[in-house]
Amino acid sequence: MEAAHTDTTGTTGTPTTTARLTVHSPEEMQELGRALAGLLRPGDLVMLTGELGAGKTTLTRGLGEGLGVRGAVTSPTFVIARVHPSLVGGPALVHVDAYRLGGGLDEMEDLDLDVSLPDSVVVVEWGEGKVEELTDDRLHVVIDRVVGATDDDRREVTLTGVGARWQGVDLVPR
Ligand SMILES: Nc1ncnc2c1ncn2[C@@H]1O[C@H](COP(=O)(O)OP(=O)(O)O)[C@@H](O)[C@H]1O
Ligand SMILES: [Mg+2]
Repeated sequence: MEAAHTDTTGTTGTPTTTARLTVHSPEEMQELGRALAGLLRPGDLVMLTGELGAGKTTLTRGLGEGLGVRGAVTSPTFVIARVHPSLVGGPALVHVDAYRLGGGLDEMEDLDLDVSLPDSVVVVEWGEGKVEELTDDRLHVVIDRVVGATDDDRREVTLTGVGARWQGVDLVPR
């Protein structure tokens, strides 16, 4: 994993913190997830954006490992959200497939999940171009395949911490 750069802008509007990374394999993507888990606290929202097969679920698997939660992280087929309780006294991981969440994140409250969202880390796998209306604090992870890359496994990952929660947080894993 290489970090290209990290920067912070916060003079007007919503503050954001950004870092860009290149990831070379599924294993590295999972490793990135494990590293990012170390930054997460109860109540955090992580949005994953990228086309089908980009690596959103692979990253979430690493997040689950890093958080020490129960159960295999897989694509939440047939369910909108799956709850993975913590095995280590930390926050549960709530894994949401937004392709199945028609009405946006407000709908989350109506899902009647057996867990309190403010006590959990909520990870949403989102399709492209659906996040514009979101204004809450969030860690937004955009995964792109490199256009024309000969290396099929290469992904460009942009991490953006949106809102005061993420101001001053170093997003680059080490
Ligand atoms: N650098 C990489 N990061 C993540 N996945 C990769 C990478 N290179 C190849 N892959 C493969 O791409 C697929 C990603 O699948 P998945 O994580 O389910 O994507 P998504 O949830 O975004 O649809 C897996 O088959 C994985 O092995
Ligand atoms: Mg997926």
